[in-house]
Amino acid sequence: MAVTRAEERIMAIAKHTYGSWRAQKGRKPIFIKDAEGVYLYDENDKRYLDFSSQLMCSNLGHKNKAIIEAIVKQAEKMPYIAPVFAQEAVEKAVDALLSVMPSGLDKFFFSTSGTEANEAALKILRQYKAPDYKVISRYHAYHGATIAGQSLTGDPRRWYSERARFTVQGICFAPDVYCYRCPFGLNYPGCKVACVEYFDYMIKEEGNVAAVFVEPVPGTNGRIVPPPEYFPRLRQICDENGVLLVVDEVMTGWHRTGPVWAVQNWNVIPDILTTAKGCTGAYTPVGLTATSRKIADFFEEETLVHGHTYACHALALSAIAPAVAEYKKLLATGLPQRVSKHLEKRLYELEDRHECIGDARGIGHFWGLEIVKNRKTRERFNTKADKFRKPLMTDKIAAEALKLGLYVVSWYDTLIVAPPLIITEEQVDEGIELLDKALEAADQEVVHTDVPGSRSAEAFNKVTH
Ligand SMILES: Cc1ncc(COP(=O)(O)O)c(C=O)c1O
Repeated sequence: MAVTRAEERIMAIAKHTYGSWRAQKGRKPIFIKDAEGVYLYDENDKRYLDFSSQLMCSNLGHKNKAIIEAIVKQAEKMPYIAPVFAQEAVEKAVDALLSVMPSGLDKFFFSTSGTEANEAALKILRQYKAPDYKVISRYHAYHGATIAGQSLTGDPRRWYSERARFTVQGICFAPDVYCYRCPFGLNYPGCKVACVEYFDYMIKEEGNVAAVFVEPVPGTNGRIVPPPEYFPRLRQICDENGVLLVVDEVMTGWHRTGPVWAVQNWNVIPDILTTAKGCTGAYTPVGLTATSRKIADFFEEETLVHGHTYACHALALSAIAPAVAEYKKLLATGLPQRVSKHLEKRLYELEDRHECIGDARGIGHFWGLEIVKNRKTRERFNTKADKFRKPLMTDKIAAEALKLGLYVVSWYDTLIVAPPLIITEEQVDEGIELLDKALEAADQEVVHTDVPGSRSAEAFNKVTH
């Protein structure tokens, strides 16, 4: 069959650019020629509903006028000036950020990705806490693609990085807060949240611990909402042991879970907060490391041994203030608050209908469907070890969805439902209908049981909304 012009273009891109986190053979990306609101359009004008905000970053949807205008204005005026200079783009970004930051986090380091935001956090915390240097992360965590980001990561991507000897020393991993598959085999609330208490034990046993580094709600690795006691207790344990609490809000920030920051669901203020993605609604690449005033004061006399050519990149930063304003405007309409309830209801209905959904869980516009082969035993179709090695059931569902016109991101055992915050109830219904059909691919291969799906997240969510 003759190769079309569209196929030629896709093949040229695949030949000359690396695809992330995959073997390169067989890569055939869909050519997206346009995107608007919550929809993407391919070469043949086929429409896709964006049910994952691209990589959980296009929180304000596509073609937001106010943000685009601000970027264009900055491009015309001065797209870049070295970070050694002061400039209006930084001033505006800082003012906007100060209006939404948790109290006390008022000194920032700008970069261009979530990975860099975390890399900066790791260097800052180790300088600040020297000679203590150990950092406690968790297994259900992704903190970035570089050597430091991978070392902090608990998911299978780290296994491969470790094989290539890409690791930094001094990172240890704590048990996850994962009620559906509790690492201690306990049930909430009888467990007395043993997973958080274990941090105290670990910090004392490890010695030399500088910080605990966690995603408030693990993003790629599960959308697992912790019970209400978890974060206040973790803050207390860190304080009692003189250890910093760093939260990675790269994915959970910017109203993804309701409030601006996910930790605000539990009224906790970290010592360092990192973010990226929704910071500009993904219109420009920005990474942000925000620190407490106490840490800022330390660096009055201490050299900050960090920097980038593109720290404070004017064009990148120009999207922050309009994005902050757009979030405020959107929240004032009440739409995201209303739609998140609707999304929750519709996802629980899906769970009722599909035996392949073991656990539907989440918060706000941040949901996970854990796909299982057997609801009774909770046996998965695929484990962590299958990632990069075997065809995955979750990928099969996502591919079915794509055929039907729904873009939804898959991980080795879950689907990530995280639509843009501008999505309406009708558009949620449209997505659910398509997902409903796509899930049949997994239903056909389940072991039939009469066990209903788990609603473990439901009880926890009550405190947050
Ligand atoms: C929680 C978290 N931290 C860090 C990162 C890395 O961000 P980036 O891909 O912008 O480097 C991601 C990316 O998905 C993330 O979800």
